[in-house]
Amino acid sequence: MMHAVVVRSYDKGPVYEKVEEPQPQGPHEAVVEVLAAGLHHYVRAQADGSHYTSKDSSGLPLIPGIDGVGRLADGKMVYFVAPDTSFGTMAEKTVIDLRRSVPLPEGADAVRIAATMNPAMSAWVALRRRIHFEQGQKVLVLGATGSSGQMAVQIAKLMGASEVIAAGRDQERLESLRARGADVLVSLAGDIGEAAARLGEAAAEVDVVIDYLWGKPAELAMVPMLMKRSDRSRSLTWIQIGSVAGASAAIPSAALRSANFQLLGSGQGSVTAAGYLAEFPALIEAILDGKLQVHAVTCPLSKAEEVWSAPSSAEQRIVFVPGLDSGANVKFIWSR
Ligand SMILES: NC(=O)c1ccc[n+]([C@@H]2O[C@H](COP(=O)([O-])OP(=O)(O)OC[C@H]3O[C@@H](n4cnc5c(N)ncnc54)[C@H](OP(=O)(O)O)[C@@H]3O)[C@@H](O)[C@H]2O)c1
Repeated sequence: MMHAVVVRSYDKGPVYEKVEEPQPQGPHEAVVEVLAAGLHHYVRAQADGSHYTSKDSSGLPLIPGIDGVGRLADGKMVYFVAPDTSFGTMAEKTVIDLRRSVPLPEGADAVRIAATMNPAMSAWVALRRRIHFEQGQKVLVLGATGSSGQMAVQIAKLMGASEVIAAGRDQERLESLRARGADVLVSLAGDIGEAAARLGEAAAEVDVVIDYLWGKPAELAMVPMLMKRSDRSRSLTWIQIGSVAGASAAIPSAALRSANFQLLGSGQGSVTAAGYLAEFPALIEAILDGKLQVHAVTCPLSKAEEVWSAPSSAEQRIVFVPGLDSGANVKFIWSR
């Protein structure tokens, strides 16, 4: 037996309990000792049944967790994405599909990787797999104050954006994005229509929008941005990634007719598993080279119930480290 975090009902939070150790089923499967697993947005949504990939309660019980850093029986460290089963990564051990894992250098900072991969992957994959992003292009990150948005600012800059405009509500976090590469800041605080007008003034010339908000902020910003554009025949690509401000947005038909405007999404389903996997090594290298700053907070798995019921923070990324429960010698650092 071993400890894991288990969801038995979508209405109640997960519980920390003992479960049977998982067994590999096929030639591509292997058991890993979980070294670090991040509590991402997706994982919270998975645990309360609200994620778009969630099944009804017939999918319960489940162990949440979608990715992590683990150690194989031969001692090698890997970053892995959990298979599509109900046995996730918030456990002392889990089964991985070796085809969905990549090797890590020995001594790699497991916490940094577990904290960064998911929030960073959205912008990284969107810019590398969903569009043909070119150096020198201008980018607006809508929802830049969230943990994925903060990564998107850094990634756009890393990929050669000539200007990154960061838009978000939290003033302090917005200001902090200057040090992470944002050239222009647009506050989304206060009246949403006024915020849309500010975007029209500041972001009319961007080539790409990386949108974590959707809902009214996206809906209201599109027309002012397109109408203020100096050349509406120049392409503007809006990449829909998250929907923290609303699952739907009414797109004015004129937006699609009167400008060279493309709207597409990026996420699980619009990019193949092989597409994601192909991006892992370069992203891991950027993380280990310290090119992406993250604020990760480590937590023993036994504290999962407490952590889950506390409000989530875009400032920090919680990383469960099962080794902390057994008092093992875990000496990962957290970095900003
Ligand atoms: N498709 C993918 O591949 C992918 C990958 C990762 C994440 N996502 C999605 O991206 C979204 C953001 O994820 P995250 O990890 O960055 O979340 P997060 O760290 O919790 O940040 C969410 C941020 O959204 C902002 N926000 C919430 N409601 C808002 C509103 N009405 N108007 C303006 N800002 C609002 C808040 O900013 P303030 O603090 O400034 O208020 C908050 O910091 C989620 O929907 C997530 O599921 C998608």
